[in-house]
Amino acid sequence: MQQDIGRGVAIIGCGSAAPDTVLDNQGLSHVVDTSDEWIASRTGIRQRRLAQGDRALTGISAQAGKAALEMAGVAAEDLDLIILATSTPDDLFGTASLIQAELGAIKAVGFDLTAACSGFLFALVTASQFIRTGAYRTVLVIGADVLSRWIDWNDRRTCVLFGDGAGAVVMQASDTSDRLLGFDLHSDGRQNSCLTLPFQGAERSLTPDIAVQQGTYQPIAMSGQEVYRFAVKRVPEVIEKALFRAGMSTDQVDWLLLHQANQRILDAVAQRLSIPSDRVISNMASYGNTSAASIPIALDEWVRQGHIKPGDVIAASGFGAGLTWGAAIFQWGQSDR
Ligand code: ACO
Repeated sequence: MQQDIGRGVAIIGCGSAAPDTVLDNQGLSHVVDTSDEWIASRTGIRQRRLAQGDRALTGISAQAGKAALEMAGVAAEDLDLIILATSTPDDLFGTASLIQAELGAIKAVGFDLTAACSGFLFALVTASQFIRTGAYRTVLVIGADVLSRWIDWNDRRTCVLFGDGAGAVVMQASDTSDRLLGFDLHSDGRQNSCLTLPFQGAERSLTPDIAVQQGTYQPIAMSGQEVYRFAVKRVPEVIEKALFRAGMSTDQVDWLLLHQANQRILDAVAQRLSIPSDRVISNMASYGNTSAASIPIALDEWVRQGHIKPGDVIAASGFGAGLTWGAAIFQWGQSDR
């Protein structure tokens, strides 16, 4: 192990990518019985991006990763680790290694991590553990999903909500400070049935005594009101816990960066935490709910538009299927403000 590897974590670059195809609410009203008014007023979503092709997840993930590496000034060959948070891999055996190949990150090890809409948050925390132990110095964390593959496009209760996309951050060991200030992660499988994308097989006999299950995944099924109740209760709790661990209070938070599921959830969480709306990051109008991608896409937009400045304190929270939820408090960038 190198002597000079620092134990602090810094988040030094971000990037994002979304497919070119846009489906707005008006267009969607030709697919199912819905309207722009219903979708926008209940969710805040106006349009979503839809991916094409069998390798779409790899493509948009690599694009987001490249942009993040460029911002960080890090060469792909210098990456030690790539963690891909996704529930929609191009290959169930893992897609991180396909992204590794596309980036030319020859030295890195890559693996997939699945925690649905909490995936990016869980991957960020996982990456920081590798950095803090000194095992790896430079890590690319990607959150990406192509949920359009697994939506029932006849079910207006779910198909209006989701979109495809990818976002990424570059994290690096820092010898001078630790920018991941606090975190807290949870899961509760007892509530799994609220939101599922389950495997369903049919029995196939191999011999008179032995059978196997063969099948595929069934479209997303969701109990919307239960998920809503879960989110508005658990998300403020987990952010407060992460803030407590960081030794901070909500008035020290510059930006509330929540999984972009639904504007009403964002508003309710911000209200419970007494965080004013101008500090709440929201871009779901343009993308819908992009699952593991939503937090890094929103982060990337706010950084590139100049809203988020180096040293700003961000309270991020992911929540979703599993059920899973978590929060991380971190400072953006390398330099102090
Ligand atoms: N267009 C028009 N009407 C619709 C639509 C639609 N797309 N979808 C449902 N409706 C109708 C229903 O049929 C129902 O009609 P009825 O009263 O005649 O039976 C009516 O609208 C109300 O339906 P509800 O399901 O009760 O709608 P609700 O007010 O709960 O809103 C929503 C649904 C937006 C999904 C809400 O429950 C919610 O925000 N839940 C949070 C879930 C979420 O964000 N999930 C994202 C994935 S999970 C995650 O990322 C954490």
